[in-house]
Amino acid sequence: MSDIILITGATGNVGRELVSLLHKSGQPIRAAVVSEAEAASLPPDVPWCVFDFTNPRTFPAAFAGVDRLFLMRPPHLSNIQRDIKPAIEFAAQSNVRQIVFLSLLGAERNPVVPHAKVETLLQKGAVPYTLLRCGFFMQNLSTTHRDDIRAANDIFIPAGMGKTAFIDVRDIAAVATKVLTEPGHEYKAYALTGSEALNYQEVAQLMTAVLKRPITYSRPSLVRFAWRKWRAGWPAAYVGVVSGIYLTTQLGLAQEITEDVPALLGRPPLTMRQFVRDHAAVWETEPASSINAHNMKEVLS
Ligand SMILES: NC(=O)c1ccc[n+]([C@@H]2O[C@H](COP(=O)([O-])OP(=O)(O)OC[C@H]3O[C@@H](n4cnc5c(N)ncnc54)[C@H](OP(=O)(O)O)[C@@H]3O)[C@@H](O)[C@H]2O)c1
Repeated sequence: MSDIILITGATGNVGRELVSLLHKSGQPIRAAVVSEAEAASLPPDVPWCVFDFTNPRTFPAAFAGVDRLFLMRPPHLSNIQRDIKPAIEFAAQSNVRQIVFLSLLGAERNPVVPHAKVETLLQKGAVPYTLLRCGFFMQNLSTTHRDDIRAANDIFIPAGMGKTAFIDVRDIAAVATKVLTEPGHEYKAYALTGSEALNYQEVAQLMTAVLKRPITYSRPSLVRFAWRKWRAGWPAAYVGVVSGIYLTTQLGLAQEITEDVPALLGRPPLTMRQFVRDHAAVWETEPASSINAHNMKEVLS
């Protein structure tokens, strides 16, 4: 019997780290990529398949011999019944014995978010599941907001002085590795955050100290943020979603610190200082010609 772990979103923030951890540990895995061209960005020797949630013809080859599934909802897919349910149903038919879902902190109290709809499908479905309800990723600063920091030395985020218990995606991948590779995590939900809640003024001070150049937090209003991002070409719906997320931060809903990461990993979560140190090169100003294919994807995402 085959015991392959299928990893969706294998080129994304969490999936990329998870692929690396599981592959290094010798687990049989299959990295799911949307197109063949994306496979080039995977570590060498990682088995991969083309998989698209919106194209069921990609399912049979992707799920062949698969025993466990790491399920990530691509951020632009919000119609869960249409776009995510078919893959969950196919997993059940394929005798997948566990689905680990990358969810959102507080999804159980917020039926409006797409993650809650996925959780409901899993809870009503036939396959044992594990829910990883994650707080804000530190990596939002090195992807979505990278250009503002790199080009203008400014964190341009409408979060007021609200605090966030940021989590490093490397910790999420470590937790996912654990729950996918040891028994006893079926039908469990974990709330994953870092160990400190910071506002963006504190993040800017920390970045200033680590990057050794002044980084400010301009604390824009929601309207100013939305206007500037829309003018810069972000789709209106995406501007709305991101603004809504930062409104919740303003209201103090992102600051709760949980104990599940240290309890599961037996060590404290990675800190924001460590994250900034490890990613310092990402915010360095560099000539356009030195932007490689990998970080160009992040610039465009
Ligand atoms: N950012 C946060 O603070 C935060 C916090 C909690 C939860 N989350 C949730 O985490 C999830 C995103 O995870 P992430 O940041 O690791 O991913 P990500 O970096 O946003 O990458 C998205 C991944 O989805 C893949 N993808 C795009 N369209 C697809 C399709 N039609 N079929 C299959 N795969 C597709 C992409 O492949 P390509 O590279 O080929 O495009 C990429 O690997 C979202 O559900 C988000 O709501 C985020």
